[in-house]
Amino acid sequence: MERIYLDNASTTFPKAPGVGERMKELIDTAAYNVGRGGYTAAYTTAERVLDTRERLARWFHFPDPSGVIFTSGVTMSLNLVLKGLLRPGDRVVTSSMEHNAVMRPLHQLAGTGVEVVVADAHADGTLDPARIEALLREKRTRAVVMMTASNVCGTKMPYREIGALCRAHGAIFILDTAQTAGVDDIDAADADILTFTGHKGLGGPQGIGGFLIPERLCGEITPLLAGGTGSLSHEEEMPGFLPDRYEAGTLNLPGIIGLGAALEYLESQPAGAIARREAELTDRFLRGVAAIPGVRAVGLPTAAGRAAIVSLDFTPLDNAEIAFRLDSEYGIMTRCGLHCAPRAHRTLGTYPNGTVRFAFSQYNTEAEIDRAIEAIGALVRG
Ligand code: ALA
Repeated sequence: MERIYLDNASTTFPKAPGVGERMKELIDTAAYNVGRGGYTAAYTTAERVLDTRERLARWFHFPDPSGVIFTSGVTMSLNLVLKGLLRPGDRVVTSSMEHNAVMRPLHQLAGTGVEVVVADAHADGTLDPARIEALLREKRTRAVVMMTASNVCGTKMPYREIGALCRAHGAIFILDTAQTAGVDDIDAADADILTFTGHKGLGGPQGIGGFLIPERLCGEITPLLAGGTGSLSHEEEMPGFLPDRYEAGTLNLPGIIGLGAALEYLESQPAGAIARREAELTDRFLRGVAAIPGVRAVGLPTAAGRAAIVSLDFTPLDNAEIAFRLDSEYGIMTRCGLHCAPRAHRTLGTYPNGTVRFAFSQYNTEAEIDRAIEAIGALVRG
């Protein structure tokens, strides 16, 4: 049975061309540590790490490659930034669509005396910037944190408008780009801190991600981790400069080199081509499932304003059983349940049953979309 991968919101697969080869080549020929060993081979590997930092800075239109910080992924980045920034008595605003990568650190921070305010989105996942503005006017707010698009239903967030509101009200705007980085053109200037993961739209391997931070915020965010950086080793304090301040311990060098290869591929693509391709596939899928009685696509009605993600509610059929049968009988890989975003499902009216999520990448084909539509139709008809 030919298998069809439609779980690209979890992690994209396949990865960008060249990623695996580049990682293997590093492991086999040049896996020296960087910032430690004082020999030419290690300096060459360090240059390759710098190359990925520079590519990320260019990709997100960020002026300073030193402010590109590597972490294990967006969850680590969000934990580091939120916990390093927020103090008891601070207020932070977020949306009801957020992933647990935001909600769980905020829940922990609420337990330490941080005031967490959640702005409700509408039932299609859209968020009215006026709602955030009202909260910013109501009381001094230290930070706003939100995603660029929902991992549940794909609805895009008005993050540019909210970034402008944050600047006007003196709040730090932290952006979670997990579902759109690599597909949409995201300008780091729209946020104060942009967090990203390497293994989704950017097309890199799992275990590498990071965040972009301007030097002016260095003093505001206490490093979550402390340890060796290969710099200022005589001091017990973490260095005050970037990127070392937030990069304790040996970096995920194969991940960084793999991500560099993925960025090289993205740079070789015509601007907007991947986004257009994904929108075509999403549109085709939405049109196809609209014709099947008993299936409800949650979120926005069309592909406009949506990442390449469609969540279907099969209730009263069992969503988990549909996902299981899609895999076992048709080879179609999806993700069902609450997608680590229970509050988003409450907002969309799909809690506690959740949905079956179909998430596309540029590598999917029309034939695969059509096979998925046919399979859904057959399962619903029983
Ligand atoms: N956040 C990822 C997802 O939505 C893992 O599936």
